[in-house]
Amino acid sequence: EPVVAVVVAAGSGVRLGAGAPKALREIGGRALVAHAVNALAAGGVTRVVVVSRLELADDFDRALADATIPWTLVGGGAERQDSVANGLAEVARVEPGARHVLVHDAARPFVPATVVAAVVDALRAGAPAVIPVTPVVDTIRALSGGPGASAVVDRSVLRAVQTPQGFDLATLVRAHQHVRSEGLAVTDDAMACEAIGAAVTLVEGSRDALKVTDPFDLEIAEAVWQRRRH
Ligand code: CTP
Ligand code: MG
Repeated sequence: EPVVAVVVAAGSGVRLGAGAPKALREIGGRALVAHAVNALAAGGVTRVVVVSRLELADDFDRALADATIPWTLVGGGAERQDSVANGLAEVARVEPGARHVLVHDAARPFVPATVVAAVVDALRAGAPAVIPVTPVVDTIRALSGGPGASAVVDRSVLRAVQTPQGFDLATLVRAHQHVRSEGLAVTDDAMACEAIGAAVTLVEGSRDALKVTDPFDLEIAEAVWQRRRH
């Protein structure tokens, strides 16, 4: 059975700062988006829809010239959810029979194959929405009550959410339509699915799947790449 993934790469990378668009920034001579596509392929993904700015098409052609699975590019939207929605429309076109879809951040170049495979396995076992999560390592405080007041949150019940997130395709499309028509604010696709009553299944994520957000994250990602080379 084919496994399609939408790789969102249409952000502006403001927090990473000046330089090439974030998804085209390189580690070890390869763009983050290319690392991400190869990481998905290693975990069983068979086709990718990359979402970015269409005026960067030539740059993506170069960056993904040695991709090991077929890919197509579509234009992104103002918010991440808009970019995902554009990607889902393309999935329906390039893989009309697809039952499942993964949604992955190009900014997470080194997600381990085991994590991708765990997401796919849970989908095949019937889960409508699957997310990789990691424990929270810092002590967390919530600002609460009056000015300057705060309280420690029990971090043992907290999990940080990563990608790729996996979905029953029809459920995710319906969730996006619902969120749009109701004007709901959601921060990821799993939250959108929950809004239409779909259960969210957690699988174990990995610190290697860190999201490159600021220059410090790029240093960490470079270290992950160096470790993987050996
Ligand atoms: N993304 C997208 N379309 C948007 C916004 C974000 O495809 N309108 C993608 C980004 O390209 C990234 C992922 O969503 O792969 C996670 O977003 P984030 O880490 O916030 O990246 P940027 O939005 O590019 O960075 P910043 O918020 O610092 O500008
Ligand atoms: Mg952003």
